[in-house]
Amino acid sequence: MSKIIEAEDLTKIYAGNLTAVDHVSFSVDEGTLFGFLGPNGAGKTTTIKMLTTLASITSGKASVAYHDCAKEPNEVRKSIGIVPQDLAVDDDLTGIENVMLAAKLYRVPESIARKRAEELINLVDLKDASKRLVATYSGGMRKRLELIVGLIHQPRIFFLDEPTLGLDIQTRAVIWDYIKRLNKEHNLTIFMTTHYLEEADSLCDSVAIIDHGKIRISGSPSELKEKVGGDVLEIDVTNGASLTEFFRSIQGVKEVKQTGSKYRIKIPRAEEALPTIFEGISAKGLKIREVSLNKPTLDEVFLEVTGRSLRDEPSGAEDSFQRMITSRRRL
Ligand SMILES: Nc1ncnc2c1ncn2[C@@H]1O[C@H](COP(=O)(O)OP(=O)(O)OP(=O)(O)O)[C@@H](O)[C@H]1O
Ligand SMILES: [Mg+2]
Repeated sequence: MSKIIEAEDLTKIYAGNLTAVDHVSFSVDEGTLFGFLGPNGAGKTTTIKMLTTLASITSGKASVAYHDCAKEPNEVRKSIGIVPQDLAVDDDLTGIENVMLAAKLYRVPESIARKRAEELINLVDLKDASKRLVATYSGGMRKRLELIVGLIHQPRIFFLDEPTLGLDIQTRAVIWDYIKRLNKEHNLTIFMTTHYLEEADSLCDSVAIIDHGKIRISGSPSELKEKVGGDVLEIDVTNGASLTEFFRSIQGVKEVKQTGSKYRIKIPRAEEALPTIFEGISAKGLKIREVSLNKPTLDEVFLEVTGRSLRDEPSGAEDSFQRMITSRRRL
């Protein structure tokens, strides 16, 4: 796959010597959904601004849609759509007027724009509300409109800065569904930032975690979880000889901790080792009292690489959604 976005040692120093983005390097494959994750003030919006030519690059380089951001900004702008973190639509216009205004700004001929605007409005189920003033929209409707306003000129790459921040759980799920559809059905490369690690986990093809302006870890969500040791399997067995050596002998096991009759085993893709483990325990004449398998979350990856949880950040982000989809299951 070709790298449609590339950043090499990308750096932004604001006046007053604040290094907001510090030698950041990454790439995004064409047609994929890339998540740029990190706490408040990490440098996510600043990176998006440099990639979308809205902020100058202090040092390093970036290319977007195969054009150099510093040398060919107009070519970059033609290829991208942006939904900024701050307000992106006008309250005093209707939904359709906002879309048509964007079409004018992007110089899309009116006849083409009108047809496309209708398609986009249908795509996000805003047909009935399209002739109402945006001032009367709910937060979720406004976000849906923002998504399509950025698409009227058929960009190849879509930059979304915190598209679900502050929305309720159901609305966030709906927005993610639209984002996924845009990515898959319209072959749109998506670069998005989010605080919601579990959302990124289930939807992004690859992610990078940025903290204090530096990328701390990047890869697919499953690669990242394997890098921090993979799954945690907890097994409680009836008393007998220690099973520590037996567990250590199983392929892929990274760590075994024994506390009495309980074992805590770190192993990537634990489910694949379960039959061997169950057979081994049974062959030793022991019985299993309890088993639990914890799949690590991206929040745990964040904790491992930064030493703190993103949930501890003072972002004010309520997060029952994260708890709801935490992948702990009792066997
Ligand atoms: N125009 C600016 N001038 C000076 N400093 C800035 C400017 N914009 C951002 N910063 C600083 O740069 C750092 C990174 O900010 P940025 O907005 O990129 O973070 P972020 O990761 O998008 O945070 P959030 O999650 O809160 O949106 C912060 O310390 C911020 O205060
Ligand atoms: Mg931001």
